[in-house]
Amino acid sequence: MKLILLGAPGAGKGTQAQFLTQHFSIPQISTGDMLRAAIAQGTELGKLAKSFMDEGKLVTDEIIIGLVKERITQSDCANGFLLDGFPRTVPQADALADAGVAIDAVVEIDVADEVIVERMSGRRCHAPSGRTYHIVYNPPKVADCDDQTGEPLIQRDDDKPEVVLDRLKVYHQQTAPLVDYYQAAAAKNDALRYIKVDGTQPIDQVQSKILGQLN
Ligand code: AP5
Ligand code: ZN
Repeated sequence: MKLILLGAPGAGKGTQAQFLTQHFSIPQISTGDMLRAAIAQGTELGKLAKSFMDEGKLVTDEIIIGLVKERITQSDCANGFLLDGFPRTVPQADALADAGVAIDAVVEIDVADEVIVERMSGRRCHAPSGRTYHIVYNPPKVADCDDQTGEPLIQRDDDKPEVVLDRLKVYHQQTAPLVDYYQAAAAKNDALRYIKVDGTQPIDQVQSKILGQLN
């Protein structure tokens, strides 16, 4: 199963990815998590990406496409994968198609901008795994600690309200065109499904809506 999760910052891509990757036994490929790992490790890629991410801007297509192409050839991707946060621009989507990657379904998680800003302020993350919580909607068992490791949770640098607004702007300008792009692609290709879910429902309901349409 090869899946793409499409949605605004904070729509719940990472949250739903946790369930979907377990259900289908496929790896989660989150370009955001990959870049944050590179920043934490202090690599050249991390240094380059940090300035873009801190401002809510996209990292260049060239870098991201190289990163994803390399990742999807690894052995754990043989039975499929879930792309979380990629593609995010039309050139990225074209690069995926040009590489001959046959996607089974694009899942759009639809959430209005007003809801997003509130969600981001309550988000807490376990940096090493990318696991995501919310202080109200999805609290960890012990406050500020990851459920599986007990390690501390952090707030992402780009979750400050002013950066969230910039990320939303970038989403509408550069990523939202992929909604039409993939709807048109699905209309022409029976093997590609386009699934749209209301992401303002509670987390478990969003999950069952997605699974219901995928199975
Ligand atoms: P990335 O890490 O991909 O961030 P994003 O797309 O902005 O998305 P988020 O991770 O913020 O949100 P999410 O949809 O995963 O929501 P979550 O599940 O956490 O990218 C970060 C940066 O990296 C970019 O700005 C860019 O600079 C760079 N980058 C990454 N990929 C790139 C690419 N392809 N090209 C160029 N640059 C790239 O949920 C959010 C919160 O809401 C959580 O607290 C969660 O618990 C809560 N929540 C989730 N679902 C629900 C629900 N149904 N009800 C109530 N609360 C919910
Ligand atoms: Zn995410």
